[in-house]
Amino acid sequence: MTQQLSTNQDLDPTLLRAAFGFFPTGVVAIAAEVDGRLVGLAASSFTTVSLDPPLVSVNLARTSKTWPDLRRAGHLGVTVLAGEQAVVCRQLAGPVDDRFTGIAHLVSDEGAVTLDEGLARFDCTIYQEVDAGDHILVLLELHAVEHVDADSPSTPLVFHRSGFGRLEQTA
Ligand SMILES: Cc1cc2nc3c(=O)[nH]c(=O)nc-3n(C[C@H](O)[C@H](O)[C@H](O)COP(=O)(O)O)c2cc1C
Repeated sequence: MTQQLSTNQDLDPTLLRAAFGFFPTGVVAIAAEVDGRLVGLAASSFTTVSLDPPLVSVNLARTSKTWPDLRRAGHLGVTVLAGEQAVVCRQLAGPVDDRFTGIAHLVSDEGAVTLDEGLARFDCTIYQEVDAGDHILVLLELHAVEHVDADSPSTPLVFHRSGFGRLEQTA
């Protein structure tokens, strides 16, 4: 990386996707029961935003067929996926009818759906939706939070350069 960044580059989506891929993230499941049906998806764009009020965000593609249903839910569940849930993650991004097959989950009275095996679970409502190019930045307000024991050996699922990894604690 000795050269200067040249400006006026053609920032085509393939280049951007590859560059963005160097930034590792966790992955969450966002899910709810809507009209008696489980709907949800996997998202690596989850970010913590604010403690007061308690807010997190996810960034969802405008092309998402699930978001228009999900946003009608009273409450949404967000689950931080654990390292051993790579298969669950792929399933939650796959064919809609199979997304929850065999996945142990809990449905709250208000319809938020969280996964039993996650590391942390949040019960949320939509705080604000912000236009963000070809995505919608969704701010979620938290109403309930739960997580595994602080001394649990579980580590989060890490998404990096289109693949999954685990976190290696070095300090
Ligand atoms: C690891 C991983 C991370 C993903 N992160 C996001 C994300 O942050 N935002 C998003 O809109 N879709 C994301 N997706 C894709 C969605 O899970 C889903 O496949 C996509 O929204 C298409 O399904 P839909 O039309 O039912 O929404 C991700 C998929 C995977 C496998």
